Amino acid sequence: MKKSAKHKFFTKKLLDWFEKNDRPLPWKGEKNPYYIWLSEIILQQTRVEQGLPYFERFKATFPTVHDLANAPSDKVMKLWEGLGYYSRARNLHFTAKFISSELKGVFPNTHAAILDLKGVGPYTAAAIASFAFGLPHAVVDGNVFRVLSRIFGIETPIDTTIGKKEFNQLADILLEKKQPGVYNQAIMDFGATQCVPANPNCGVCPMQKKCTASEKNLINVLPIKSKKIKKRDRFFNYLVCRRADIVILNKRTQKDIWLNLYDFPLVETQKLLDEEELRQNEVFQKIVGNTSFTIKKVSKPFKQLLTHQKIVANFWEIELKSALLTNDSHFFEVKQKNINNFAFPKIVDLYFKDKSLYLELF
Ligand code: ADE
Repeated sequence: MKKSAKHKFFTKKLLDWFEKNDRPLPWKGEKNPYYIWLSEIILQQTRVEQGLPYFERFKATFPTVHDLANAPSDKVMKLWEGLGYYSRARNLHFTAKFISSELKGVFPNTHAAILDLKGVGPYTAAAIASFAFGLPHAVVDGNVFRVLSRIFGIETPIDTTIGKKEFNQLADILLEKKQPGVYNQAIMDFGATQCVPANPNCGVCPMQKKCTASEKNLINVLPIKSKKIKKRDRFFNYLVCRRADIVILNKRTQKDIWLNLYDFPLVETQKLLDEEELRQNEVFQKIVGNTSFTIKKVSKPFKQLLTHQKIVANFWEIELKSALLTNDSHFFEVKQKNINNFAFPKIVDLYFKDKSLYLELF
């Protein structure tokens, strides 16, 4: 399709805006595809301010793809701790091993081969292909949906096949083929800092006079989603079992959230329990049943929202008089002072940071 006057206007205004508003970020101008890939995986669904220190730490700890490939999984997970979406860290590690051994450390340099890497979707593939190799592939993510739906007044829901196709086609038309990397970085930054989700400052926007959403008062309506994700409620009763300077941890190995992270022995229920209900619970009895214990206190409920689940957790602080006799092989004892070596889900970190804690952890 040929570029219309409005298409040309958009691309030109965007690049002009970027010249004046370029944010200094450490991955900008980077040509090493390994570093670009690292930054893009970290930045998927993470704000730049939050992702920046992680990027610096990964680069410093694993200067080459071989360093990342050869690292133990626990070290990678620990460095990722706090970013969420832990499957991304596992895929990152998997792909580093693949590139290091199968590709002899040479990062693939075609869009198709980059897209083939585990953990790399269309957005990340377009970003890496354009930044590292100057290939003409347009990024399309939440920021881009928002910018394009507003400027071009597109009301097709973005979470439908037809909507995705429409936005992808438009993004391809708008892409500045002579400098795809610059264009992609410009639209990312424009979405992140100017055409923001809530209350954008349209008065200073260079596109305002041709922005359909601004003209029709649709800024707070666009982009449109057809369905809201329904979240499943889950209730966790964590047993924080302590004996002298020892705490029991659990390694999460089941096919569930937080694979390969650490938490505590868990009693999952249909609602949060009071102490009597907990004592009566079969799973609880199985865990501590043969051991002599005292329940010291229970935390306030902590909450964590995931994409498809809402987790509410109580932490029961339990003093053991003797070792747990349970035969659950995922439980193990650690000294309190060593607990920092393990990577925990956010909800457990929130609990650690809470002042009410009776464990002396840090
Ligand atoms: N989000 C994802 N990739 C990004 C990048 N390269 N710059 C800024 N924000 C981003």
